[in-house]
Amino acid sequence: MKKILKHLLEKYKFVRGDLNLHNRTGMLHKCWGHIFSNHLYGDYVEFGVYKGDTLAQSVLQYQQFKTWLENQKKEKEKWRNKVALGSPLNKKIFFHGLDTFQGMPENNEKFFVFDKGNFKASFDDVYKRLNSLDEKVFLYKGLFTETAKQLKNNLSNRKVSIVNIDCDIYSSTVESLSIINDYLQVGSIILLDDYNSFNADNNKGQRKAISEFKNNSNWVIEPFFSYMFSGQSFLICGKR
Ligand SMILES: C[S@@+](CC[C@H](N)C(=O)[O-])C[C@H]1O[C@@H](n2cnc3c(N)ncnc32)[C@H](O)[C@@H]1O
Repeated sequence: MKKILKHLLEKYKFVRGDLNLHNRTGMLHKCWGHIFSNHLYGDYVEFGVYKGDTLAQSVLQYQQFKTWLENQKKEKEKWRNKVALGSPLNKKIFFHGLDTFQGMPENNEKFFVFDKGNFKASFDDVYKRLNSLDEKVFLYKGLFTETAKQLKNNLSNRKVSIVNIDCDIYSSTVESLSIINDYLQVGSIILLDDYNSFNADNNKGQRKAISEFKNNSNWVIEPFFSYMFSGQSFLICGKR
């Protein structure tokens, strides 16, 4: 029954999701809604995958909006058909997930939640889970600095629409921002899942990392919305 209902909802063009939901599903719904309503083409990159919950949900939200786009082509209003047919989002995007899959790396945060080895997950299980979703998902096993080259090879001549930086700590966030810098574009979303960790101390963690990035990169970055317990999203609004 659930399956039939799901199929009908998708067939008859409802995009399921609640804009007022502050959990990760609602957050990803809002992000993909922003991307599809702007017809911004680009890949999804996640730094810090763990068991793949957020990455899997991102694929599902993307697929719902793809169905919406297909349904727009059958609408009675001709301009809708024209817009949908002309959308760059008719081309498939790629999903990329980076993680040690050995848990948190050595770090200086001195916060027991993020101790080395926490958040360990099985690469094989995550690989199976994500590759059953019918989209091209690349997984990169190792420290971000070790797998950056592979990611960049797969991103050559491509841009990113959403970068989800869910790696908790300062050093890993600095690395993620530096790796992804050249692939951002106006309209891209940066998600910082742990923005308000460390009691929202501006001198620690992701707050410190994004504040330095804002000062040192050429991107104009503005806050978008907050989500979950500690998350904050940002929009790339221009280039200096
Ligand atoms: C909170 S978990 C990610 C949660 C995940 N997004 C989810 O959907 O549940 C943080 C992850 O970041 C990874 N991580 C942190 N720093 C890293 C680094 N420098 N290189 C590779 N992985 C890193 C850890 O291994 C851990 O799995």
